[in-house]
Amino acid sequence: MIERCQEDTRPRFGPRARTAVGLAAAALLAATSAAFLPGTASAGTTLGASAAEKGRYFGTAVAASRLSDSTYSTILNREFNMVTPENEMKIDATEPQQGRFSYGAADQIVNHARSRGMSVRGHTLAWHSQQPPWMESMSGSALRSAMLNHVTQVATHFRGQVVAWDVVNEAFADGSSGARRDSNLQRTGNDWIEAAFRAARAADPGAKLCYNDYNTDNWTHAKTQGVYNMVRDFKSRGVPIDCVGFQSHFNNDSPYVSNYRTTLSSFAALGVDVQVTELDIQGAPANTYRSVVEDCLAVARCNGVTVWGIRDSDSWRASQTPLLFNSSGQKKAAYDAVLAALNNGTAPTDPPTTTPPTTPPSGSCTATLQDGTRWGDRFNSSVTVSGASNWTVVVAVTPPQKVSSTWSGSPSWDTSGNVMTMRSNGSGNVFGFTTMANGNWNRPVVQSCTAS
Ligand code: XIL
Repeated sequence: MIERCQEDTRPRFGPRARTAVGLAAAALLAATSAAFLPGTASAGTTLGASAAEKGRYFGTAVAASRLSDSTYSTILNREFNMVTPENEMKIDATEPQQGRFSYGAADQIVNHARSRGMSVRGHTLAWHSQQPPWMESMSGSALRSAMLNHVTQVATHFRGQVVAWDVVNEAFADGSSGARRDSNLQRTGNDWIEAAFRAARAADPGAKLCYNDYNTDNWTHAKTQGVYNMVRDFKSRGVPIDCVGFQSHFNNDSPYVSNYRTTLSSFAALGVDVQVTELDIQGAPANTYRSVVEDCLAVARCNGVTVWGIRDSDSWRASQTPLLFNSSGQKKAAYDAVLAALNNGTAPTDPPTTTPPTTPPSGSCTATLQDGTRWGDRFNSSVTVSGASNWTVVVAVTPPQKVSSTWSGSPSWDTSGNVMTMRSNGSGNVFGFTTMANGNWNRPVVQSCTAS
């Protein structure tokens, strides 16, 4: 018997996109980029065309109710080649009464997009929020079956029309726990997320299946590490996940951080695609928009960027004026910065050259030290561990430095008091400590990381 490699027919976003679905979109991307070789400088004049030249997409959230606004649809049709229905595919919209599905507004957006060569991201199949009242009041096995039925029905309805699904949205808690968020879905059992992914794969095998969340941009945050550990676990056990969406709603309380690129590349190294799915930035600073786009373009498996609305007046956070077009539909400085960043970017090699191992090498892990707050006599450091959930990290400080306090781990000390062995205590993959300088400001050094 001759065994054949099964070709991965899930969508690619580049000029050489090869896919069983979204053929119109692939044709558009190919047409707009035919004259360009990967990595060459280019001068695309719209966000979508420029992104396509670099093997990516540039998308926006769309509200069906605004499609009749000609200023809105003119910008949409000109600038974007990916569309996410802002609310129309959510559970309360698609299954307002149990077992009665309603797809009118979502179909309107999908048809508008696909008839113009744009692709569609589906958002979202399973979420604790925007549930219809009947689902909000459900629990246990009845809720589990209702959720899986919803995933199956909706993914089947849009089968072949959606290039990527946010299968599960926002399932992790904020704060320092790195744990799942409590919700009626979570209370049906910790395996609810993988069950949703399996149901989505069965219903639409051609779509990329994403996990999507917010406040997962900062690599050192416990929530980011929690999602990272889940994705690594899913990949190691063959749960069908293809991508991770970073909502990236940046504002003064949750700002863009320079380790964002590390976050995107670290997830990509697990063997998933990454996508910026709901970008908006309070005040729309051009430099921050530029950085986000540059970070995506620097990561081969970052497929594209979606902004969460077109004009400031379309934004769910309109008062923050966080988008690329002002309320009259004129381009803002951030628009020019994004377009320039896209034109300066490079296309990823296709297919991606690095397919990392799905399981970390046994026994090893990586610990990265980051500088924290510094006072007149002492300073903080945090250490982020990847590759293991049960870990032991050895850190040394330089005498006469002394570690005065620690958090989020179980420390022990060698006789000198300068070498600290920190073990995981179940509170996540980031621990921290304060070092009394005693006149020496050397950075502490990570000596080893061992998985147990
Ligand atoms: C928002 C919409 O923009 C609003 O119109 C709606 O009232 C609430 O939801 N994270 C998500 C999106 O995944 O679905 C949310 O969209 C914004 C936060």
